[in-house]
Amino acid sequence: MKEKNANKKVEHIHKYVVDNTDKRMTTNDGVPIHDNNNTLKGGERGPSLLEDFIYQDKMAHFDRERIPERVVHARGSGAHGIFEAKADMSKLTKAKFLKKGTITPVFVRFSTVAGFKGSTDLARDVRGFSVKFYTEEGNYDLVGNNIPVFFIQDAMNFPDLVHAVKPEPDNEMPQAASAHDTFWDFISLMPEAAHMIMWVMSDRAIPRSFRMMEGFGVHTFKFVNEEGKGTFVKFHWKPRLGVHSVAWQEAQKISGYDADFHRRDLWEAIDKGHFPQWDLGVQLIPEEDEDKFSFDLLDPTKIIPEELVPVQIIGTMTLNKNPDNFFAETEQIAFDPGRLVPGIDFSNDPLLQGRVFSYADTQNYRLGGPNFHEIPINRPVNGKHNNQKDGFGRQDILKGNTSYFPNSTGGGCPYHAMLNGEKGFESHAEKIDGRKIRGRSTSFADHFTQARLFFHSQSPEEQEHIISAYSFELSKVNDPKIRERELAILHQIDKDLAKSVGKNLGITPPSTLDPLTVQFAKQNHPEYPIQAPTP
Ligand code: HEM
Repeated sequence: MKEKNANKKVEHIHKYVVDNTDKRMTTNDGVPIHDNNNTLKGGERGPSLLEDFIYQDKMAHFDRERIPERVVHARGSGAHGIFEAKADMSKLTKAKFLKKGTITPVFVRFSTVAGFKGSTDLARDVRGFSVKFYTEEGNYDLVGNNIPVFFIQDAMNFPDLVHAVKPEPDNEMPQAASAHDTFWDFISLMPEAAHMIMWVMSDRAIPRSFRMMEGFGVHTFKFVNEEGKGTFVKFHWKPRLGVHSVAWQEAQKISGYDADFHRRDLWEAIDKGHFPQWDLGVQLIPEEDEDKFSFDLLDPTKIIPEELVPVQIIGTMTLNKNPDNFFAETEQIAFDPGRLVPGIDFSNDPLLQGRVFSYADTQNYRLGGPNFHEIPINRPVNGKHNNQKDGFGRQDILKGNTSYFPNSTGGGCPYHAMLNGEKGFESHAEKIDGRKIRGRSTSFADHFTQARLFFHSQSPEEQEHIISAYSFELSKVNDPKIRERELAILHQIDKDLAKSVGKNLGITPPSTLDPLTVQFAKQNHPEYPIQAPTP
């Protein structure tokens, strides 16, 4: 196939693309249809007949057109593109797609988090930034966000966070904003969210365009080299167009005029050949330096300041082709931070570790069973070969009777590769030594220093926007106790910030954390609060 902007993945899925132009209409079994307007009836005005298999074929399929939307990040827009590796990383990682000069097809999906599939693009929200690299060694997914930190530190809290942020259970309001009691109730009892909330109240949460957003892997990951040595790594996507946001008043107006504003912007830019680009950057930390910071590298509520560890650019991504079909590509794509290739590994970040279970688990449900890997957009370009078989919607037709290992027939998989001593994915052989506990490291207990760092890094105008955002969102909260609890958290971050928001709400911010906030935090840190005092 010679299509404009093709890459190996675009070519790979081309065989599944169907063009119905000028084709004779048939049933799903290929039977030519004579009349697509009328059901089969007993007499001109008679009842419809049960034997009308042509009607049943059409209606039964229509009845099943909808699949569950994603439990989070339901609203998204996608595009094909390429990634070109530009730096020599071979000393640190054996990942082949990061070898200088290598070009790898990608599919990217941008999303909001809280809203439904049909919600507005301009909600104040985090944006998802997911990239699937179709590498020669299988699919690698970098499933990140446009904000470099997260709300919570441990995966156990994720369902609670999402229940709190989604519309309230009785009336399903509000649809796509964080301004409601359940959200602020949860957040004001979870001081570990303080840093993330500061970003969400900033202009970062109302981007001008997907093309003008940064992306972050958020967690610390690991590069692993040929010798098996690990290096901690944080991933950054830097947009070539720079980072731009809209003002809150603009966001509200745009939502009214065009709920598809970001989706349209991305589609039209690619359609017109204004291909958006991002540079991929990494912050690298040798394993020996793991304990050299005042925060824990495994804590997903912390950044590594770029002054401490500069970002090095290692490649460039270009989005250059719109999907042919939204459902088949953007909706059915399955991203999973648990999809790694040789040379990249997890760190022990307890949020990341929990994510590794959740994505494939939900996709088994959302995409109708264990064969979602065979959906064209999810298939690796290098092919998949294993002894797994059957299940709902299976498409591959395996030859031979050997679907087990070991076997003496020489058939099946992965018999040959293993005997030949070829290497595949090997987990980083990190030493692990500890007691089984359900708890949290005290190195995760400072919740406010980086929230303060972020607030102080903002210009006076941006700080005003943050104050207005807190004031607007908290003004929508009905329970005064919740507002007060959040103001007590703001006081720990910056007294003037708390005072300004308090003034707008007519509340004097309490100077100490609410006893209920402390009580919940003590479940993780019995000595809480143990962070640095407010300056
Ligand atoms: C989507 C779970 C934290 C970024 C999802 C989905 C689930 C999920 C179940 C839907 C996937 C699908 O239906 O295909 C979790 C859990 C988390 C967590 C359990 C924490 C324990 C995070 C974090 C980030 C993130 C920290 C950012 C670094 C995303 C993105 C998507 C997503 C971008 C949308 C993927 C797409 O475009 O299809 N998450 N998530 N999530 N999550 Fe998370």
